[in-house]
Amino acid sequence: MKKVLVATDKPFAKVAVEGIRQIVEQAGYEFRLFEKYTSQAEFAAAVEDVDAIIIRSDIVDKNILEAGKNLKIVVRAGAGYDNIDLVSATEHNVVAMNTPGQNSNAVAELAFGMMVFMARNSFNGTSGSELRGKSIGIHAYGNVGKYVSAIAKGFGMDVYAFDPYVSADDILKDGVTPVNNVEELYQKCQYVSLHIPATAQTKKSIGFELLNLMPKNAVLVNTARKEVIDEEGLLKIFEERPDFKYLSDIEPDNKSVITEKYNGRYFFTPKKMGAQTSEANVNAGLAAARQIVDFFESDITTFQVNKAKNEVNS
Ligand code: 3PG
Repeated sequence: MKKVLVATDKPFAKVAVEGIRQIVEQAGYEFRLFEKYTSQAEFAAAVEDVDAIIIRSDIVDKNILEAGKNLKIVVRAGAGYDNIDLVSATEHNVVAMNTPGQNSNAVAELAFGMMVFMARNSFNGTSGSELRGKSIGIHAYGNVGKYVSAIAKGFGMDVYAFDPYVSADDILKDGVTPVNNVEELYQKCQYVSLHIPATAQTKKSIGFELLNLMPKNAVLVNTARKEVIDEEGLLKIFEERPDFKYLSDIEPDNKSVITEKYNGRYFFTPKKMGAQTSEANVNAGLAAARQIVDFFESDITTFQVNKAKNEVNS
């Protein structure tokens, strides 16, 4: 009997766990739940005899892949898969997948929650500002970027987007204004919302030069990854531009400097909260479970994000 492990340091909502359990058990597999663990060693022990794992931001590195002797598939219930060692997964003949789009709306709503909170001075009783009529730049027009654009239009914002992988025509079709390059996006927009993945190219790519192009009362909104920020540059912009504010779904490494010196100009979630809604947990978790069943029963590998072993050797 195949064994499917849900390994989530940050647990799914109960309703999602039950939905996953049902899909797994209806397929005739064994369901196992492993939540809130405290070390990678514990995680490694839990994967020893399982065939499949569903994870969130949990780290699946070489050691975990090594420990999972029967492992055939890892599904990241979510979008970003920078937490999986893809090369090692291929070497171990393990298929890695994500569930793109399933938690995008939740992430987009959090971006607006943080924007409104900051625009209203953290609801401290003083007069704040509105989002209507302000410009917002969507940096990367993927699933989350599209939801952010749609919500921004509802707020009456002027929406711009830049994505080297999406044509200007496709952006225009959504009633969003495409710009020619990333600098233009930052120049034009008071708000910039980041939706780039963390890759070798994007890590530390958002720094002082780019942020300093932003107009007065600039607000950077990061529901992507903290790794895409050049934190030295971030501190410099905080220091040199008293009008600059930063909203981030997860604390930056230099949080203590920012919280000590720049009161009222930041908001950080204590844990990554973008996908923490029961709807997003259900969407992503159940999609992951279905993808595992489809993989075992019908060899379906849609949403595979690593290379298959034979692709590497050929
Ligand atoms: C994603 O990449 O899907 C989001 O960052 C959500 O991450 P989480 O599942 O750890 O909340």
